[in-house]
Amino acid sequence: MVTGAASGIGAAVARQLTAQGAEVTTLDIRQPPESVGPIADHVPCDLRDPASIDGAIRALGTGWQVLCNVAGLPGTFEADAVIGTNFLGSRMLTEGLLAGFVDGGSVVNVASTNGTKWQRRLPEILSFLATKSFSDGAEWYATKQPEGTAYAFSKESLIVYSMALAERLRARRIRVNAVSPGATETAMLPALRTALGPAKLSRVSSVMGRNAQPDDIAPAIVFLTTPESHWVNGQNLVVDGGYLSGSAFGR
Ligand SMILES: NC(=O)c1ccc[n+]([C@@H]2O[C@H](COP(=O)([O-])OP(=O)(O)OC[C@H]3O[C@@H](n4cnc5c(N)ncnc54)[C@H](O)[C@@H]3O)[C@@H](O)[C@H]2O)c1
Repeated sequence: MVTGAASGIGAAVARQLTAQGAEVTTLDIRQPPESVGPIADHVPCDLRDPASIDGAIRALGTGWQVLCNVAGLPGTFEADAVIGTNFLGSRMLTEGLLAGFVDGGSVVNVASTNGTKWQRRLPEILSFLATKSFSDGAEWYATKQPEGTAYAFSKESLIVYSMALAERLRARRIRVNAVSPGATETAMLPALRTALGPAKLSRVSSVMGRNAQPDDIAPAIVFLTTPESHWVNGQNLVVDGGYLSGSAFGR
């Protein structure tokens, strides 16, 4: 199951999985392009809308081995849409599918290099994660209004949630990891440039020589769905060509 498969990184993940012969179901507000290859099913769903997610969970049933939560919105959208899609909707979908998930399966959540500074406000994120439902989470965010952008908070929360869920599901051998891409050439990039400021993204592409393509990111996500990655669990895998690690050396 791949969310966000109508475009960008999610489409590349779905395409790489179908090319390997996997039976792939997609979930998105939009229909995926034919280029993703032969999919088993597409479930239309708006991850900002709990009723839509409920309907999708019922339609999806049980027996899932892999869930890649790739769908997301950039910070140019209203904060409630960003928090709803990037965290609350993806969490609701995940929790809804877990009861029918196959033991030994794998969940991969696509976060961002924008979410890697979660340590500096872990207690606040844990308080947000303690909300049980989509609406409680939305109310928490609207009331507490954490510092910084809704996009960064959504991705920091997704990384910490991935670690917490890996621990919760250890007995079922369901692995949960996050993947944090750096700047990637997708439909979202112009909006990220607006939200983060042009200087930040120009710096990334000037240091790296280019931005990532979706096909630079997708293999890391696909790897985490495979049995070969069975000992990788509760991690946040940064896939940015070395941009972040390089900054520790004064670049
Ligand atoms: N592009 C980047 O530079 C970059 C960097 C870091 C992280 N990311 C993350 O990668 C993921 C994929 O983004 P992308 O760059 O491929 O962007 P994209 O815009 O190409 O794809 C996003 C997909 O999510 C779907 N989507 C959006 N809102 C939805 C909703 N409410 N319900 C269901 N589906 C919805 C869209 O229809 C689309 O198919 C996102 O989570 C994004 O935050 C992107």
